[in-house]
Amino acid sequence: MKDMKTIVIIGAIILVLILLVLGMEWIKASQRTGNVPAAAGLPYDLVTTFKGDAANSRAFTWYTREPDAEGWLEVAEGETDDFTGPEVLRIQADHTRIRTDSGVRGVHKAEAAGLQPGTLYSYRAGSGEEGEWSGVYRFTTAEADSGVVTLINVTDSQGASAHDFQLWGHTLDKALQTFPDSQFIVHNGDFVEEPEDAAAWDDLFGNVQDIVASIPLMPVAGNHDEVDGKAAEFSSHFQVPDNGADGSNPGTSYSFDYGPVHVTVLNTESNLKKQTEWLKHDLAGTDKPWRIVAMHRPVYGGNMYKKVEDLADIFDKYKVDLVLQGHNHEYSRSYPLYDGQIVKDGAAKRRGTVYVVTNASGGKFNEKKEDQFYHQVHFQNDKQMFAGITISGERLTYQAYDVDGRMLDEVILQH
Ligand SMILES: [Fe+2]
Repeated sequence: MKDMKTIVIIGAIILVLILLVLGMEWIKASQRTGNVPAAAGLPYDLVTTFKGDAANSRAFTWYTREPDAEGWLEVAEGETDDFTGPEVLRIQADHTRIRTDSGVRGVHKAEAAGLQPGTLYSYRAGSGEEGEWSGVYRFTTAEADSGVVTLINVTDSQGASAHDFQLWGHTLDKALQTFPDSQFIVHNGDFVEEPEDAAAWDDLFGNVQDIVASIPLMPVAGNHDEVDGKAAEFSSHFQVPDNGADGSNPGTSYSFDYGPVHVTVLNTESNLKKQTEWLKHDLAGTDKPWRIVAMHRPVYGGNMYKKVEDLADIFDKYKVDLVLQGHNHEYSRSYPLYDGQIVKDGAAKRRGTVYVVTNASGGKFNEKKEDQFYHQVHFQNDKQMFAGITISGERLTYQAYDVDGRMLDEVILQH
């Protein structure tokens, strides 16, 4: 009888604990705003990227709550809210469906091509139905043959709560205030904690909607974006050049040019052997004077990820200037390195490659890892960070800031 009573009490305690956990999850979920609109065909998670030539084209991707809503893109030259004229480009988006943890959604991908270089455009996306058009956003195509570019680097927004993504939104706001002339953003991966968490993606885009609807957000797949070889959610949110390694998940390895810089994006989570071969061809094939590689797990970060160490030989051979990395959730910048060693001042023939990890842009920070011989700067300030990279002629300036607007590191690379 006494045993029975104990069992009942333990059972009741377990039940209360389960209800408590479920209740907390429910509260957490109900705090998630996301940005899923009530109107079935109204775009959300709208993001622009480069797919073709940045001087002549621009790509746009968005979701709709109604999986089979139509998707249209309307683009007009100049600063206008009028999309009625005959000169307006009307492009029907490619349409697929995706099953998410909050229902089946429509995925729409459209690309405006044949644009003029260095020109301001206005656009909107929608289903074509009244009341189902996005706001009007603007973008400017790249100048033809420009020798100047500014880009922003952020990494590991990696949120799981509405608050996490407010932090990320604040980081990107501050980055754009600090570098208002930025032409694009490179995000080094781990966008969200759980790739199946649709509300997380909605919060990710919802907190930066005005920015990423205008300025391309070029994605790198992290270990929280591609899990067990699958990256369907990640791939569904972006369209990037279709020029990557055979066998990689769509949109996880690719390269693109902007003005004087060639940017190569690698996927450190799978298909490394084929990517290595592809990387050689990719870097051998560019005539751009500046080369940046973006990858999630670091070759030289707070620690080294063994599986990607061989890539450094290729970076040496093809004179990669800067490697943007993520994953470590701390700040690190290497000395210029060549053949695994620090390039001494005055070694004119070897200019070396600098490897950075720009802390995290969301709420998660790791304890600072041990200092290594290659670290020139290495710290953990437990603050969201971003970097601005400006290339002008023979000079690249990399500046890392915390979210309060303090510049914490700067390096100038000279050709
Ligand atoms: Fe991460």
